[in-house]
Amino acid sequence: MIQQAHIMLNSKPAACRDGETVLQVAQREGVFIPTLCHDPRLKPAGACRTCLVEVEGQRRLLPACATPAAAGMVVKTDNDRVKRHVKGLLALYLADHPKDRASETGAPDQLLDLAERFGAPTDWPAMPNVRAARPGDANPYVHFQPEKCIACARCTRYCAEVESVHAITLANRGSLTTIFTADGRGLMDTTCELCGGCIDTCPTGAMTEKKPFLTKAKPERQLEKVRTTCNYCGVGCQMDLNVDHSANEGRGKVVKVTSPPPGTTTNDGNLCVKGRFAYDFLEHRDRLTMPLVRGDDGKFHETTWEAALQAAARGLLKIKTEHGSDALGFISSSRCTMEENYLVQKLSRSIFKTNNVHQCAAT
Ligand code: FES
Repeated sequence: MIQQAHIMLNSKPAACRDGETVLQVAQREGVFIPTLCHDPRLKPAGACRTCLVEVEGQRRLLPACATPAAAGMVVKTDNDRVKRHVKGLLALYLADHPKDRASETGAPDQLLDLAERFGAPTDWPAMPNVRAARPGDANPYVHFQPEKCIACARCTRYCAEVESVHAITLANRGSLTTIFTADGRGLMDTTCELCGGCIDTCPTGAMTEKKPFLTKAKPERQLEKVRTTCNYCGVGCQMDLNVDHSANEGRGKVVKVTSPPPGTTTNDGNLCVKGRFAYDFLEHRDRLTMPLVRGDDGKFHETTWEAALQAAARGLLKIKTEHGSDALGFISSSRCTMEENYLVQKLSRSIFKTNNVHQCAAT
């Protein structure tokens, strides 16, 4: 029988699998280790050093996100030495970081969350931040606030490793390190696909949606997240509509779209430009919100769903009776679900006895 390998995690045995890091073992065991530069979709970078843990026999603290778990390893994640280190490190990050939660974007800031949790000081004024922003980036969706950036490189690594796009990169050194494009061009002049993955992975809200996509009034945590399936194509990506219930006279309004956490849905936290940004049709004045039936005057009139469906059924049966089944054709959509498309072909073949059925492949 193969013996399962174990490490000792805060004095308790924890099973470890081949190739797992100390962080992965800890997360499976429900042991909290702070992280900032870690994203499970990316290769470990070990850049931010917030996840340092004590490993018996090692003189220095080691980054849990980049340290392979080996059988027999003895790891401490919560002793005084580790806590002192995390608190001091967070204080350094906070030195030139805005502490104001009611920031312009309302995006979550994990650095401030960790500062609260570890008691790192946030009550002194920020030092001037010297990171440079790309001047006048006219792209429609992605907004970069260099003063909130901690140079963890999650956005640049996401762009390269997940999207294989390489539109953004780290530039400069030390406290001048910032996120740049090649030659400092605007994103529209690069290979950027505007997927917004950099926004999704950014831990501090330095990368956010641009107006009007960002919500000024409400921090993200005050919005209700409603999980739904993107209908721009048939892949079935899951996304969260962020609804502000105080808008639209209490009827609620979708003010942004975010992706569910990596590892929880089939799209692994990734969305494309359409899924993340193209939702303004929800509030568009031309959008049909009631069924319409053409009246004897030749004009469309609003009606109930029941009346509209009866009118459609009457019309279809009339054509079938007068001209035969093959005078009819049913066109569905690749934006419908598999189940909806299945029902359309069932309606076409079983009820109206025609094979004239098509699911438009263009999106
Ligand atoms: S999360 Fe491990 S070094 Fe940043």
